[in-house]
Amino acid sequence: MKATTIAPANIAFIKYWGKRDERLRLPTNSSVSMNLSAATTTTTVEFSDSYQEDDIQFVDDEATQRETTRIVAHLDRIRKRAKSSLRARVVTQNSFPKSSGIASSASGFAALTVAAAGALGLTLAEKELTTLARLGSGSACRSIPDGFVEWLAGKTNDASHAYCLYPHTHWDLRDIVAIVDTEKKKVASTEGMDGVITSPLFQTRLAAIPGRIARVKAALQKKDIALLGAVLEEECLDMHRVCQTQIPPLYYWNDVTRDIIRAVGEWRKGGLAVYFTIDAGPNVHLICEAKDEQVVVEKVKTLSGIEQVIINKPAQGAHLI
Ligand code: PMV
Repeated sequence: MKATTIAPANIAFIKYWGKRDERLRLPTNSSVSMNLSAATTTTTVEFSDSYQEDDIQFVDDEATQRETTRIVAHLDRIRKRAKSSLRARVVTQNSFPKSSGIASSASGFAALTVAAAGALGLTLAEKELTTLARLGSGSACRSIPDGFVEWLAGKTNDASHAYCLYPHTHWDLRDIVAIVDTEKKKVASTEGMDGVITSPLFQTRLAAIPGRIARVKAALQKKDIALLGAVLEEECLDMHRVCQTQIPPLYYWNDVTRDIIRAVGEWRKGGLAVYFTIDAGPNVHLICEAKDEQVVVEKVKTLSGIEQVIINKPAQGAHLI
């Protein structure tokens, strides 16, 4: 009753920022993402009647009480599905340092879901695995299917699922992450987005999203980096404007974030097809095609305030190993 899973983090091209249902983690809008090859979580789950309680071990640091509670609640959901009362030992490790500023909740809950279901012998279709992972952390559902993924908002538990738009081999993109701050964020995304309704810009954002999703899908289909990049930046700036106008406001960027945004604009004027997107933190994801990887990495390294650079290719979804 033991299984090990590796799952990627993902970068949202169209972002999940707002829940219509807190308990079921149903989002206010659909979202689209790409799985990341160099930011993964590997998790082993073992169920046994010799365990009196769940034991959660992070290889690189200690699990906080909050993290442990959230993981045990997710194990409870999976036990309920499998009609099991066995306790588990969970050992989990990220390929990226937790202090890198890359969120680990997507890869973490995707890996936990697939490993725990596998260890309990639950044979679930990919769609069901995505709805189950979503209950642990919304964006985790997008780390289960292969490559480029859409999470359909849906209005019920079963309808709110993720599926593969294109496999990871479809388009050789790069996500070069410029880490500018290695501190853990003060407000977790799941709480941060609770204030979204207070932003006067939120309804405008929701109205714009279906059009943006259509443009992202067209860009993926045509492998058109200029079209993709334009939507990425529009969407990123829109999400952050909403964050900044929530009550209380959330300011995720720092001075280096702003310097990178300015530099990307300059590099593009010089003919380099590179575009930025930013999740709920100060680190910048630079999206370009494989042929431009080296130039982009060299340019990023010339900026001051960059602590680390992580180079990602499109990746497979969560899978048992
Ligand atoms: O799934 P959560 O609760 O970690 O929220 C993710 C929120 C963003 O990263 C900002 C956007 C997204 O769609 O990944």
